[in-house]
Amino acid sequence: MHPVIAKAPNGRPHPGFADSYAVTAEFYDVLQADRDEARVHHLYGRQVARARVGVLDIGAGTGRVTLMSLARSRVDVHAVEPARAMRTSLMTRLAALPARQRERVTVHSHALDEAPLSAVADVAVCHNTVACLPPAAREVLWPAIGKALVPGGSLFLQMPPALVPVRDVLRLLPEKRVGEHVYGGRLTMSAAGNRIRTRADYWVRGAQGVLREHTETFWMWPASRARIIDDLARHAFAPLPGQHDPGVLAVTLQPDR
Ligand SMILES: C[S@@+](CC[C@H](N)C(=O)[O-])C[C@H]1O[C@@H](n2cnc3c(N)ncnc32)[C@H](O)[C@@H]1O
Repeated sequence: MHPVIAKAPNGRPHPGFADSYAVTAEFYDVLQADRDEARVHHLYGRQVARARVGVLDIGAGTGRVTLMSLARSRVDVHAVEPARAMRTSLMTRLAALPARQRERVTVHSHALDEAPLSAVADVAVCHNTVACLPPAAREVLWPAIGKALVPGGSLFLQMPPALVPVRDVLRLLPEKRVGEHVYGGRLTMSAAGNRIRTRADYWVRGAQGVLREHTETFWMWPASRARIIDDLARHAFAPLPGQHDPGVLAVTLQPDR
């Protein structure tokens, strides 16, 4: 049997998205969900609660921002997630929701610039996603966000790292017990020219030792806050005053663009 290749609306296969996160999806929630759930409520909860048109979750992953948006707003939510493995976890989550919440959320299986979204939201959240996009992909993302937002809408985006690391940065994810097994992971970020190579190592331990190990590598592209602000300004986004978290950039789509 041949694998089915997902096609974009223009008939082209999605460029490399469908299979990314194939290893990571299994470990993502068990190792990172608790901490990240608290973080997304803290970073975007108030803004999402004020949405009156819709919420757009760009790079929804397994659904942390999507679920938070359904809980904290009353508007429709659009979750954009091109990677099949991440979308599978997202759909499983949505399937478990009460119908009245599930009916408010639409999942788009494309990159945002390939999803047919026009003026569907007044609040867009892009959490932990911009870092994964090369500059050329960021350039097509900004106008796509502008199209999906209504004039005066706001975008809250988690900033990518500003620079490549001078030496390897190691982040150990707290281990979690699941029945008789313990799940663990480690992220190693290293400089590779102007990119950051992020190697994710995962393991599952039983009483006798390590049962299995997996690795997946991601690339990240650093960008300074000033660079992102300039790029967004060319697409009619202006910084919103009064936002104090240094890790998040808040901008608004100028109504008179
Ligand atoms: C590191 S994950 C973060 C997922 C989620 N936001 C979270 O923090 O748990 C980045 C996600 O962005 C998605 N993505 C990458 N490029 C995208 C694009 N152009 N439009 C929408 N999603 C994209 C990837 O498939 C991936 O699931």
